[in-house]
Amino acid sequence: MELANRHILLGVTGGVAAYKAAELARELQRHGATVQVVMTEAATRFVTAVTFQALTGRRVFTDQWDSSIPNNMAHIELSRQADAILIAPATADFLAKLAHGRADDLLSTLCLARSCPLLVAPAMNREMWANLATQRNAAQLVEDGVALLGPDSGDQACGETGMGRMLEPQDLVEETVAFFAPKALASRRVLITAGPTFEPIDPVRGITNLSSGKMGFAIARACRHAGADVTLVAGPTTLPTPRGVARIDVTTAQQMFEAVTGSLDLAPRTDAFVAVAAVADWRVSNASTSKLKKTEGGGPPALQFAENPDILASVAARPDAPYCVGFAAESENLEKNGQDKRTRKGVPLLVANIGHATFGRDDNELLIIDAQGTRTLERASKNVLAAQLVALIASRLGAS
Ligand code: C5P
Repeated sequence: MELANRHILLGVTGGVAAYKAAELARELQRHGATVQVVMTEAATRFVTAVTFQALTGRRVFTDQWDSSIPNNMAHIELSRQADAILIAPATADFLAKLAHGRADDLLSTLCLARSCPLLVAPAMNREMWANLATQRNAAQLVEDGVALLGPDSGDQACGETGMGRMLEPQDLVEETVAFFAPKALASRRVLITAGPTFEPIDPVRGITNLSSGKMGFAIARACRHAGADVTLVAGPTTLPTPRGVARIDVTTAQQMFEAVTGSLDLAPRTDAFVAVAAVADWRVSNASTSKLKKTEGGGPPALQFAENPDILASVAARPDAPYCVGFAAESENLEKNGQDKRTRKGVPLLVANIGHATFGRDDNELLIIDAQGTRTLERASKNVLAAQLVALIASRLGAS
C-alpha cells in the first residue's frame, strides 16, 4: 500500500477525460490513499458527483456557496486536510486559472489557499495544448513548483492524434507514488539486470528458468521513484517497463553481458549495479541453426555446453566498478552460502531470497548479507521490499 496514510484531494475539471477520473479515484484508494473529490461545475456536465461519492464513500464538493458548510470555509479546510491536491483532468482553462492565481470557484480557490503540493494532469485537444498561451501557463506552473504530470500523446476524443491526452489512471497513480518517494538516489545512475535468460538449443527450443523478472522490475521502478537514472537490462519477460526507465531487451546470457558492459562503457559513470537476473550458467555451444528432428532410433541429441560469463563478478572486478548488489536463490544454508557467494563474487552486498518458490510471486522475504552480518527484510510485496532495498543502497552510496 504505497499511498497508505496519504489523503489526496482529487480535483476534477470539465474535460471529456473526466470519465477516467472515476477509475483514478479507485486506483488511488487501491494503493491505500483516502480520496476527497472536488469538482468544477463544468466537470459535473461530464460525470456526476454521485459516481465519485459512491466510489470514495465521501461527500463530493462542487459549490463554494454551499450553505450546508457551517463556517463557509470549505476552501481552507479541504486544502488543509490534504497531503496533495491532484487535478485530473486539468483543462486548458483551469491551467490558465492556476497560472494566474484566479479563485472564482471552489476548486481554484482551494488550490490558491493550499499549503500542500499541487499535481496537475493536463487533458485537452492538441491545438489547445500547443497554443502558446497554454504553453506559457504550463511553464509558469512548473516555475511555481507545481508538478505537471503529462500530458501524453496519442488518440484524442475529438478524433485527432497528438499531444494533450491525459495520462492513464495507472500512470497517474505511478506518478503520485513517485512524487511522495524520498529522492534518495537523485542524480545517481543505476544499472539493473532482471528476468531469466534463454539459451537456444535450436531455433524453436531452449533452456531457461522460472524467473519472472518481478523483483528486478520492482527495483528498477523504486530506483526511478527515488530519482535515479535507471537502465534495465531484461531477459525474456512480458512485464511492462516501469515508467521513466530505459529498457534493453536481451535473450541470452551473452547478450545480457554485452548489454551490461556496453552500458557501463557508454555511461559517464554508473553508481550502482544491481544484478537480479537469473542468468544461465551454461549455454549450448553446439546449438543447431535448424530445428532438430527426432529420427528413428537416433536417440537424444548430444548437447554440449560452454560456460557463460559471470556478469556480476566481471562488473565487480572492473577498476571503475559501481556499488554492486548480487542476488541469490539458495535452497539451503542461506546465510553461509550467501556470505560465500558475496565474497566469491567480490560484491559488498548480497540479497538472498528466503524460502523457495519466490519466482513469479508478488511477495518475497529477503536476507541482506554484507560485511557487518545479516538482517531480514520481512515478507512484503516486491514493490515494498524494493523501496526498502533502494533506501539501503542509497545509504551505502551516500556513505561511500
Ligand atoms: O552464482 P549464482 O547464479 O547463484 O549468483 C547469483 C547472482 O549472480 C545474481 O545476482 C545474478 O544476477 C548474478 N549472475 C550473473 N551472471 C551469471 C550468473 C549469475 O550476473 N552468469
